[in-house]
Amino acid sequence: MNKSPLPALTQIPPYLQTIADYEIEAEKHLSNMVWQYLQGGSMDELSVQNNLAQFKNFHLMPRMLNDLTQGNTTCEILGQSFPHPIFLAPIGHQQQFHPDAESATALAAEVLGSNMVLSTFSNTDMRTLKQDNPFKWFQLYWQGEREKSLALVKLAEQQNFTAIVITVDSPHTGIRDRERRIFFHLPENMQHPHTPVHIPLPELKEGDHPVFNGLMKIAPTWDDIAWIVQQTHLPVILKGILNPLDAKLAIQYGVQGIIVSNHGGRVLDGSIPPLTALQLIKKAVPSNFPLLYDGGIRRGSDVFKAIALGASAVFVGRPYIYGLASAGALGVAHVIKILKEEFEITMALMGTATLNDITEEYIFQKT
Ligand code: GLV
Repeated sequence: MNKSPLPALTQIPPYLQTIADYEIEAEKHLSNMVWQYLQGGSMDELSVQNNLAQFKNFHLMPRMLNDLTQGNTTCEILGQSFPHPIFLAPIGHQQQFHPDAESATALAAEVLGSNMVLSTFSNTDMRTLKQDNPFKWFQLYWQGEREKSLALVKLAEQQNFTAIVITVDSPHTGIRDRERRIFFHLPENMQHPHTPVHIPLPELKEGDHPVFNGLMKIAPTWDDIAWIVQQTHLPVILKGILNPLDAKLAIQYGVQGIIVSNHGGRVLDGSIPPLTALQLIKKAVPSNFPLLYDGGIRRGSDVFKAIALGASAVFVGRPYIYGLASAGALGVAHVIKILKEEFEITMALMGTATLNDITEEYIFQKT
C-alpha cells in the first residue's frame, strides 16, 4: 500500500535492469488507486496470470553456427519498415502515471524507433505529437456513431499517423473487482482532447435492457468496420481478435491487419491465451496477412516466441507504463532498450539473423 508516491526518478539507478525491476519501482511512484488500476484485470484475473504463464509452455530450440553477420531486427508491416518489432500498445489516461503523459511516451518511442499507438483516451492532443515521426498509429475507440468516429480518423490522417487500430474487444468494460473495491475514478480535471470519457448512452425506455439496449446499442458492428475501411486511405487494423472465425471475417470486411490480444486480461477473464489464439489464427489466414501480438511480453525471449508463432511485431503495455511511472520519458526509453537488447541477444543465441528466419522450427511446445 502506497500512501504518498515518490516523485519520478530523473536518472536511472543500476538496480533497474529488467521489466520486473521496473514493475517493483513503478509501484513506489503511484498512488494505490492508480497502481490497482494498472495491475488489475477482470474478475479472477486468470487471463492476467495466463498471459504471463503461457510463455513457459514454449522452449527455445537454438540453431548453431549460422552466419549472422547480416543480422538485423527490421520488420516490414503494410508496406512500412520498422527498425524493430517492439511496439507500444494504446493505453489511455497516461497522466495518471506521469505528468508528461503521452508526450513522454512519444518522445521515448521516437528516440528508440518504437512504433507507438496513441489511444483515443489520450490526455495529450494528437496535434501536439511530432508530425514527421513515421512510427505512429492511432487507436480508435468507436464513438457511438459513424461520423464522430470518422472525424477522429480524419484528424489522424492529417497528423500523419500511418494506420488506424480499432479496439474491438471492449464494447463494455470488464468487471474489475479491484477497481470496484477502491472506487476507482479518474481525476476530476483530467483532459481528454479527443473523446468524452463516457460516450453518451441512448436513453433507456421502460423494459429496455441496460446492457443490450445501452452500451451494446452504440457498439460498432462489422458493417461499421467495413464503412470505416472505405472512408480512409489508411490501413485499418483490428485489436482484440481471438477467434479464427473473426480473423477470416476481418479479411472479408477489408481489414488489413489484426492484433491478437485479450486486452491485457482487463476485459473478458478466462479468454484463450493470446499465444494459443495466435497459433490458431495463423493457420486460418493467408500466410502474408499481418498478425501482431499483444499480451504478457516481459522479456526479449517472449518477443522471439511470439514472432516464431507467426507475429510480425509485438506490443507491450504495462511494461512501458512501469517505465513512465518510474522515470518519465527516460524510463519508457530504458524499458524499450532493455527489451530490444534482450531480443537482439536472443536472436543471436538462437542463430537467427532476421525476423523472417524466426519460425516455429525454433521453438518446442510442451504438451
Ligand atoms: C482500457 O482500455 C483499460 O484497459 O483500462
